[in-house]
Amino acid sequence: MKKISYNLIIIALLCIFGCNKKENNNQPQKENMENLQVSDYGVTAKGDSIKKYTLTNKNGMKVEVINFGGIITSLTAPDKNGKYEDVVLGFTKPEDYFNGNPYYFGALIGRYGNRIANAKFTLEGKTYDIDKNDGPNTLHGGKEGFHTKFWNIEPVKDAKFPTLKLTYTSADGEEGYPGKLSTTVLYTLTDDNALEIAYEATTDKATVVNLTQHSYFNLSGNFTKTITDHELQINADKFLPVNETLIPIGEQKSVKGSPFDFTISKPIGKDINADDDQLKKGKGYDHNWILSGSGMRSIAKVYHPKSGRVMEVLTDEPGVQFYSGNFLDGKFDTKTGGKNEFRTGFCLETQHFPDSPNQASFPSTELKQGQKYQTKTIYKFSVKK
Ligand code: GLA
Repeated sequence: MKKISYNLIIIALLCIFGCNKKENNNQPQKENMENLQVSDYGVTAKGDSIKKYTLTNKNGMKVEVINFGGIITSLTAPDKNGKYEDVVLGFTKPEDYFNGNPYYFGALIGRYGNRIANAKFTLEGKTYDIDKNDGPNTLHGGKEGFHTKFWNIEPVKDAKFPTLKLTYTSADGEEGYPGKLSTTVLYTLTDDNALEIAYEATTDKATVVNLTQHSYFNLSGNFTKTITDHELQINADKFLPVNETLIPIGEQKSVKGSPFDFTISKPIGKDINADDDQLKKGKGYDHNWILSGSGMRSIAKVYHPKSGRVMEVLTDEPGVQFYSGNFLDGKFDTKTGGKNEFRTGFCLETQHFPDSPNQASFPSTELKQGQKYQTKTIYKFSVKK
């Protein structure tokens, strides 16, 4: 009898030891799963059931992403007292994302971020007519850009930090673009409070691609406040002046001595109302800056003095569209109460230059069969006391 119970104890101990060992081996996966929550978000008019994925890093910073438009609906960052607050604009009702999202809040933008003049371009001798949705031009892909699409989302189980993999396949001819485009976007939330966005795409026929992310930031944590008190620095000596419909006129203009000079940090509102033809055309800033250097590098920094929040942007792209929220018009509720008024958010959309398919002097946005489109942008948050 004694011998049997002794054996049983040994077996039990071995089992406990074995189980623990197994758990240790699986630790990274377990940790990642703990840092991911999935919940129901809503149902679109087409009947797609939309889920919300919440990633959390070791500091408690959170990013929320939905599988409609790959939209970031919330992103928190600490202030100088360590308080985490939401710093991205968004709607309060899911259907406002599903029924048009007129400001492109938080969305993944494709197949071509920014504008293409007269909704057409020529590639390998063939002219393509694409969706016209912004006066005479195409903006952010077309009427039903990637920001309105259902993206497949799965967590990346063996990643170092909590990561979501989003995929979407755009059919050949969708919105007039040639080539079936297979797109993958990884959202990673690192432990140094950075949101990394890695984009990849391949095509079965020559096409044009320019993917970006359209989050609007307001580092105050209060979406009723304007962003004109945020201090911005952009590593760019030149920008692209535009015509009345915000298409670059082809000139690469020095920022020196103009309201477009952000080489030294200054409040966004400092020169925004200056008597300047380009500012009038954009109703404020809505232009592409030609970024200095190449490869992955720090390209911009934003500092909100009151909260102490700092956002640094790193990218391997040649340009950034700095947009000061000039079309925000108070029609929707904000997540912190009040309405989404004029200039209560700004975007720093990293990308190739607008209208590149029609402007031979700009870096090419063409993607051929067999090539891989690959680009990365990082939004990194910290504090300055
Ligand atoms: C981009 C454009 C702006 C505006 C916004 C969406 O940033 O450059 O002109 O259309 O998208 O409101």
